Amino acid sequence: MRHKIVAGNWKMNKSLEAGMSLASEVINMVADEYHGNAQVVLGVPFTHLSAISKLTAGSTKVSVAAQNCSQFLSGAYTGEISVEMLQSVGAEWVIIGHSERREYFGETDAIVHEKTKTVLAANLKPIFCCGEPLAIREGGDYLNYVKAQLTNGLFAFSAEDFSKIVIAYEPIWAIGTGLTASPEQAQEMHAALRAHIAAHYGQEIADNTSLLYGGSVKANNAKELFSCPDVDGGLVGGAALQSREFTEIVKAI
Ligand code: PGA
Repeated sequence: MRHKIVAGNWKMNKSLEAGMSLASEVINMVADEYHGNAQVVLGVPFTHLSAISKLTAGSTKVSVAAQNCSQFLSGAYTGEISVEMLQSVGAEWVIIGHSERREYFGETDAIVHEKTKTVLAANLKPIFCCGEPLAIREGGDYLNYVKAQLTNGLFAFSAEDFSKIVIAYEPIWAIGTGLTASPEQAQEMHAALRAHIAAHYGQEIADNTSLLYGGSVKANNAKELFSCPDVDGGLVGGAALQSREFTEIVKAI
């Protein structure tokens, strides 16, 4: 189902105590000030999931995501976190294949495919990230580059499985840089990705896919990005670390 979604990605920020305060503030502000039906997701560090999912348990709008998971189910993988562990601490969503994971931790298309498969099998909801680096943007072949990430990461899934996946387009040159894609640039990519999905899975599934934009989304640019017809919400990094700023982004959807 195509939903409006605003997801925060806290990355490696906030102690448990500070994270619990931030989450409580967001839950309260969203309850008091946001009356739409978008889903609000907090992508918190693994260590915070258990406590923060207890805070969101009473909220109809706010739920919790992990920022990564292992592609393996269990066993001798020191330092890794399995989907079963994530379920056991109340995660509903898992962000997969963020560009920082791909760039700094060697996650290939094949690995992000395996991770997505594992997340789906556990009945958790994947937020699959894609997006091009600056050199590809400047070289002009960015649409094909990101379409290939979808083909390689996702198109081996059945239509039924694919329809459970949320996709976040995050141009790497816009992440944490303050450089946002313009609404025209976001819409161009999102329309191209929806057409690419339609060519593989059919128009109905494409029309039902939630496509989020990420990369320097702030309270002062969220409204114009979210008003693009193929942008169904956002994946928000830096601006998700402040409750007022993040809530204003939620209210812009
Ligand atoms: P940013 O990060 O909003 O700080 O650019 C977005 C992301 O990486 O998900």
